[in-house]
Amino acid sequence: MKFERPRGTRDFSPSDMERRDYILSQLRKVFESYAFERIETPVFEHTELFTTKSGQEITENLYTFKDKSGRDLCLRPELTASVARMYVSELAHMRKPVKLYYFGPMYRYERPQKGRYREFWQAGAELIGVEDYGADAEIVCLAADCLDRLGLRYELRLSHLGIIRGLLSDFGLSEEKQDEVLGLLDRDELEQVGDFIRKDAEYNLLKNLMEKKSSTYKDHSKLLKTISSELKGYGDAIFAIGELEKIVDLLVGQEINFIVDLGLSRGLSYYTDFVFDVRVEGLGAQDQVCGGGRYDNLIELFGGQPTPAVGFAFGFDRLVEALKLQGISFPEETFHVAVIPTTYEEDTVKAPTNDKEYTVKDYAVKIARNLRKEGFSVDYDVAGHKLKDQLSHASQAGVKYAVIIGPRELEKGKVVLRNMATKEEKQVEIDKLPKKIH
Ligand code: HAM
Repeated sequence: MKFERPRGTRDFSPSDMERRDYILSQLRKVFESYAFERIETPVFEHTELFTTKSGQEITENLYTFKDKSGRDLCLRPELTASVARMYVSELAHMRKPVKLYYFGPMYRYERPQKGRYREFWQAGAELIGVEDYGADAEIVCLAADCLDRLGLRYELRLSHLGIIRGLLSDFGLSEEKQDEVLGLLDRDELEQVGDFIRKDAEYNLLKNLMEKKSSTYKDHSKLLKTISSELKGYGDAIFAIGELEKIVDLLVGQEINFIVDLGLSRGLSYYTDFVFDVRVEGLGAQDQVCGGGRYDNLIELFGGQPTPAVGFAFGFDRLVEALKLQGISFPEETFHVAVIPTTYEEDTVKAPTNDKEYTVKDYAVKIARNLRKEGFSVDYDVAGHKLKDQLSHASQAGVKYAVIIGPRELEKGKVVLRNMATKEEKQVEIDKLPKKIH
């Protein structure tokens, strides 16, 4: 029998994993440098958790199933809803802000293509309990510092859904209708928005707003002033512009490069105010490597106290791809030492360290285990390849030292230490081995 992987999933080879682990370790360092703490939540949840407020794009693509007791469950498509659920049931008593991060697989039944998978990984952060715009700015700084640490070139775009929501609300659209319109805008289906907004003047005002972009500081404030005057009379929208301006000023002060793009709307319905995303040129149609924003109503909707929150998630697979695309390489981790017996024969030798009889290979295993306990990463060849073969494998693998163990040296309590780079060899007492390897 031969099996294929399910569509939209991938296998990761040791070298893929080395790269992925390294990237994750860098992200974790930055998350932790901002005092965010890691959490984990279940891979499957009650379906309702995601059908309540995540929006059409999510609900249409859920992997749902019934368990043996008939419960409606689904594989998680994202983690913000799970974090909000966990916060309400377990973390609400914590001092605010609660700062959490996570990494794990997500599942969406999408049409697979380059950069879009049915199983993909996200690394995300959520800052819960602070309404002040300083929290939005902190979240953006965190995302930018992660990307900078990896050395990636990217484009960061900011917007504020309060502007569009404010307008739509003044046009008489309910919150549900607003969610639908935002979904259409996210999929660039502006034409269909006409079904929701009948008056031409109102439709044109929205269309005009969606085209507004700026890329430099002077530009940002000019743009926001222009929009304020164009939206005169729409109080909620103008208030949101003021909020965005505060975040913009803070980020400019932190020398973060970004674009204000009021055409940015996000596919998920729980966003209420500030939103942002990150794109990387050259990734093709799926070029968004990060998305986030403020969701001030979700926790209350899930039965908690009204609690503001803001966060983001990196599409981890796209980050990995983007780094490859930009030719960014990483230090390769390799094992440090190869312990090689010159013979795998069963003849025994008296070991001077404890006066017991050992075969050379068994003593080699002992030395390998001792070195591992000392903190070295050590390869020992259980397959019993010839000495020459093992040495050439060690050299190809970039090993720093080979510890060669032969019967004659062993009887004297010694081994041969070979520096693989210089090919220099010297006899070393077994007890002193850890000190001679660095
Ligand atoms: P999202 O925009 O749906 O937001 O997903 C975040 C990122 O996950 C995207 O920018 C993209 O890089 C990646 N992604 C999404 N779908 C796929 C896929 N099918 N294949 C590969 N990568 C994918 C969220 O999920 C929100 N929970 C983010 C958030 C956290 N907002 C506030 N806090």
